[in-house]
Amino acid sequence: MVKIEPFAVEQWMDTYETTPGVLNIAETCAASLSIADLAALAVPTVINGTTIIPPADPLSALATTRLTYGAIRGSSTLRQQVAALFDTGKDESVPTLPADNVVITQGAIAANYLLFYTLLGPGDHAICVYPTYQQLYDVPKSLGAEVSLWMLKKENQYVPDVTELNGLVQPNTKMIIINNPNNPTGAPIPRSVLEDIVRFAQQRGIIIVSDEVYLPLAHGGTLAPNPDEGESGIFAEVRESSPQPPAPPPSILTLGYDKVIATGSMSKAFALAGLRLGWVASRDPAIIKAILAARDYTTISVSQLDDGIARYALSDSVCESLLRRNIELARRNIRHLARFVGKWENKARVRCAWVPPTAGTTAFIQFSTVGDDGTVTPVNDAEFCLDVLKATQVMMVPGSRCFGQGNHFQGYVRIGYANETAVLVEALSKLDRYLENNIA
Ligand SMILES: Cc1ncc(COP(=O)(O)O)c(C=O)c1O
Repeated sequence: MVKIEPFAVEQWMDTYETTPGVLNIAETCAASLSIADLAALAVPTVINGTTIIPPADPLSALATTRLTYGAIRGSSTLRQQVAALFDTGKDESVPTLPADNVVITQGAIAANYLLFYTLLGPGDHAICVYPTYQQLYDVPKSLGAEVSLWMLKKENQYVPDVTELNGLVQPNTKMIIINNPNNPTGAPIPRSVLEDIVRFAQQRGIIIVSDEVYLPLAHGGTLAPNPDEGESGIFAEVRESSPQPPAPPPSILTLGYDKVIATGSMSKAFALAGLRLGWVASRDPAIIKAILAARDYTTISVSQLDDGIARYALSDSVCESLLRRNIELARRNIRHLARFVGKWENKARVRCAWVPPTAGTTAFIQFSTVGDDGTVTPVNDAEFCLDVLKATQVMMVPGSRCFGQGNHFQGYVRIGYANETAVLVEALSKLDRYLENNIA
């Protein structure tokens, strides 16, 4: 039997997300869409002078498809669409990614598992950012690799410090694993830092793995324009002279180094987790070949229905409006969360601290209580989350339990804020009342 730690965040979600009447602000997906919602986002497009009207019902095209296994690696159209996502932010000298360098999987969770299973084993060493999605360090460990955690620090805005790699690297380091933007902190890794990681890895022949499920949601946080305020005239001028949101980070596949792997999916930024559709992509054909050989034993192919709906979502008619919808949702909702944190930042009995996220869908917020003598003590985050759930039905994720192996990030909770605005607003108002009644 493989020895693997329980996946704390997935078990927490599984245990509590079906609580009757739950107000779920633990979820990390942009508010999920139905196929009808998706169709409503479609707009006509002009390609080579011809206007393409998207099908009103994307399912109808699939109704007559014979349900064979379909294309083993994923349909070539879908793989081309995914490859085209890596054109964003690419240096001109870097060629467009060939569709053959993309493999479709059942979500990013399968993509991550597959690449670790293919490439890591006993005798290998990997470096993984921390905190992050537990799969990224515990699956490598379960396969016999040694893993060093690369601690992300609040004082660095949770951006990895590349100078620390010198102290972490070993002669057998095979992989550096990053998560950009990061779950749970919502911090993107800027281009200059990615370039430094690439330089470090390239000099030593190390593979870089970047979990990029949140990458298309580099929304800029409260520094970006408020989607609900038309900003023109004086307001636009005020915004121009205010601090600007950070530039969206590029994918690791755009930086000119071949031994890089990116994983992504339809779940978070595209709001379609129910498709269970993701991908693994690499600049190195040898890596893709090895991954495909391992994948034959676990996947054969993904569902043709999922592939078909994903093609529709990533088509020219839908993709842009779908991403705009989700970015606007994140920009709108982060303002509600920022107002809440601002209120509780420095109360007599409560402290609430964060690095405001500028990408992705999650915020990592530390709650502390203040004693009579002024001592600030982080709350017990698991007890806090359970008590809040019991009292208010608001569901959050405890940081030390689900991201800190019980040892780190005491008092932190992860809030997913890109859900339906009404749910977030109601949940924050109940949490606010809970703090007033129980701690303040
Ligand atoms: C960083 C990260 N990677 C991968 C996944 C898995 O996503 P999916 O399998 O739905 O694509 C998650 C889900 O929470 C995640 O946060």
